Amino acid sequence: MPTLLIVYHSRTGGTAQMAEAAADAARGECETVLLRAEEAGGADLLAADGYIFAGPENLAAIAGVMKDFFDRAYYDVLGEINGRPYAQMVCAGSDGENAARQVARIATGWRLKAVQEPLIICTHAQTKSEILREKTILEGDLARCRELGALMGAGLAMGVF
Ligand SMILES: Cc1cc2nc3c(=O)[nH]c(=O)nc-3n(C[C@H](O)[C@H](O)[C@H](O)COP(=O)(O)O)c2cc1C
Repeated sequence: MPTLLIVYHSRTGGTAQMAEAAADAARGECETVLLRAEEAGGADLLAADGYIFAGPENLAAIAGVMKDFFDRAYYDVLGEINGRPYAQMVCAGSDGENAARQVARIATGWRLKAVQEPLIICTHAQTKSEILREKTILEGDLARCRELGALMGAGLAMGVF
């Protein structure tokens, strides 16, 4: 059975809820591995058939922990995962575009194939206290994450990517 790997980072819980929603939906379709970015590395990428990368936008960039994952794994798997499908989710306060661009650029380097546009969910956190507090992702947004997980899982299971 094909395997979907979901790699995520989350400081205040928003991306974690998104990644768990996608994983729950994908589990009905294919083998699904959900790993925090600190735990994930090149061997996990090689062992999977498709990927979802999920993280917050921090300071108009991908979060450092996600960047560290890509930095550690990049050359380990370069040339070994060409053509595999991926999607990405960004949890942002109000923007998220730059983090999505950076992940897309890394994925292009790996010659991965994007199955859809980045899914950016905004938590509308603007003030210091809103940014630092635990996030609750709205049901409608979680449904979009589930849709993405189901799409990736079903696509891998059917071999359509
Ligand atoms: C240091 C820091 C920088 C941030 N920079 C941005 C930013 O550039 N753009 C944005 O849309 N949100 C920004 N945010 C808001 C987070 O993306 C937002 O709180 C998100 O929901 C966090 O995801 P998490 O709950 O998974 O940690 C920033 C948050 C922190 C802590």
